[in-house]
Amino acid sequence: MCIGCHGIPGYQASFPEVHKVPMIAGQNAKYIASALAAYAKGDRKHPTMRGIAMPLKDEDITQIAEYYASQAKVDPVPPTVEAPADVRKLLDKGACASCHGANFSKPIDGTYPKIAGQHADYLYVALKSYQTDGKSYIGRSNAVMAGQVKQFTHAELKTLSQYLASLPSELRTVPQSRFR
Ligand code: HEC
Ligand code: HEC
Repeated sequence: MCIGCHGIPGYQASFPEVHKVPMIAGQNAKYIASALAAYAKGDRKHPTMRGIAMPLKDEDITQIAEYYASQAKVDPVPPTVEAPADVRKLLDKGACASCHGANFSKPIDGTYPKIAGQHADYLYVALKSYQTDGKSYIGRSNAVMAGQVKQFTHAELKTLSQYLASLPSELRTVPQSRFR
C-alpha cells in the first residue's frame, strides 16, 4: 500500500493540498513510527494518511519503520553547505539546527525528522500545517514545531523550505514494483 505513493519518484498528492509525497526511505525509524501514531490519533489531520495509519498494528509500524529507515542514502562525509545570509538569519532565529542536527540530517532525537533534501513543496506544506488550527483536513498539533513556525511569515517558510530541500540528503524514494 505504501509503495503506491511513497515508492513512486515524484508522486504528487492532490488532496487536501497539491505537493510531492514525502520521501520516507532513509528517515529515522522512531520518527516514522511517531508520525504514523500522530496520524492515527488525529494530531496530524491529513485524511489519507489517517485512514492508512489507523488500522496499522504496533508491530506492523515497528517493522515498516525499520524497513524504510534501513534504506538511507549513506554519504560518508556529507559536505557542509553554507547558507546564504538571508537564510542563515531565519535558521538562527528558529535555532533549527539545534534540534534537526548537523546538516539537518542528524536530529538530536530519533523521534525528530531528517529534513535535508526533503521535497521543497512538502516541507512548505508541513511547516504551514503547524500554524493551522481549526480545519478538518489540514493541520498538525505539535507543541514544539507550533512554537517554531509562529514567528515566521509564509514567505519566510518558503525560503526555509527551498534552502533545506537543496541540501545533500539521506532521504530518497526507492522505486518498487507493486506487483512482486
Ligand atoms: C495515497 C498516497 C499514500 C499512501 C498509500 C501512503 N502515504 Fe504516507 N503520506 C502521503 C502523503 C500525501 C503524506 C503527507 C501528509 C501530510 O501532509 O502530513 C504522507 C506522509 C507520511 C509520513 C510522514 C512523513 C514525514 O516526513 O512526516 C509517513 C511516515 C508515511 N506517510 C508513511 C506511510 C506508510 C508506512 C504507508 C503504508 C502503510 C503510507 N505512508 C501510505 C501519501 C501516502
Ligand atoms: C526544539 C526542537 C526543534 C526546533 C528548534 C525545530 N524543530 Fe522542526 N521538528 C521538531 C520535531 C520534534 C518535529 C516533529 C513534529 C511532529 O511530529 O509533527 C519537527 C518537524 C519539522 C518538520 C516536518 C518534517 C516532516 O517530514 O514532516 C519540518 C519541515 C521542520 N521541523 C523544520 C524546522 C525548521 C525550518 C526549524 C527552524 C525554523 C525547526 N524545524 C526547528 C523539532 C524542532
